[in-house]
Amino acid sequence: MAMTGVLRPGHAQVRVLNLEESVRFYRDVLGLVETGRDAQGRVYFKCWDERDHHSYVIREADSAGLDFFGFKVLDKATLEQLDADLRAYGLQTTRIPAGDLLETGERVRFELPSGHLIELYAEKTIVGNGAGLVNPAPWTQAREQGIGPVRLDHALMYGPNVAEVHKIFTEVLGFYLVERVLTPDGQGNAAIWLSCSHKVHDIAFAEYPEPGKLHHCSFLMESWEQVLRAGDIMSMNHVAVDIGPTRHGVTRGCTIYAWDPSGNRFETFMGGYQPYPDYEPLTWTFDNFGQGLDYPQRKLHETFLTVVT
Ligand SMILES: [Fe+2]
Repeated sequence: MAMTGVLRPGHAQVRVLNLEESVRFYRDVLGLVETGRDAQGRVYFKCWDERDHHSYVIREADSAGLDFFGFKVLDKATLEQLDADLRAYGLQTTRIPAGDLLETGERVRFELPSGHLIELYAEKTIVGNGAGLVNPAPWTQAREQGIGPVRLDHALMYGPNVAEVHKIFTEVLGFYLVERVLTPDGQGNAAIWLSCSHKVHDIAFAEYPEPGKLHHCSFLMESWEQVLRAGDIMSMNHVAVDIGPTRHGVTRGCTIYAWDPSGNRFETFMGGYQPYPDYEPLTWTFDNFGQGLDYPQRKLHETFLTVVT
């Protein structure tokens, strides 16, 4: 498909309880590359193969969770158009000036009916992956640090009004529905997986009474072997593992869910298939949610439904 409009997940800002402990975790265990610190005390990271300045920002706070999640759009004209489209739809948007996030242009922020703050932006300084653009090596030394994911892949959010969120992403932002889990009565969606690209999901939402909750940010691994290696590194470092290594039925992705030192869940993920916008969404009935989550064990793990930040 031609890539226009919203391109990809661009950044998450996540609250942590102890900044330096979290820096050590994200840098040395997860293996992100630290790319900056700002006057507010925020620490910026990217995955080794990402080209933009950062994709994951942490700040110290009294409670864990997600401050906001941002998507990169094609260019400034696209940003203006999407801002106008969001307002025409009836959503309030606010502008955050360039430079508020390091090396990042102006952002358009809005709140979803699920209570999550979403941002769009067109510009972020390109720093590259260190291999250069001419005759590049396939990987750099940064890949060998810790778990070493390739990129921030997607996030799953928990909150109310998923049907409204679905409409905003598909009718305004150009996403399409890839998979869904039906509510127990079969009349609505308990969870939705949305793509703005060829990826099996760029963001997902699950219905939950409390607004604005983070279920997980997901980091892409290059192979199943790399997911297993991630599990080894988690255990070597006494990381609290939630589920896996296993394979999801939903998306067919292979996964480990684990928690950072503050209790924010993250995922090391690989695989899935490549959908197109004309594909009919795949549907899971609620009684089969266990297979959707953990295909081999067919188990709807309690923590998946109840533990969020
Ligand atoms: Fe995920």
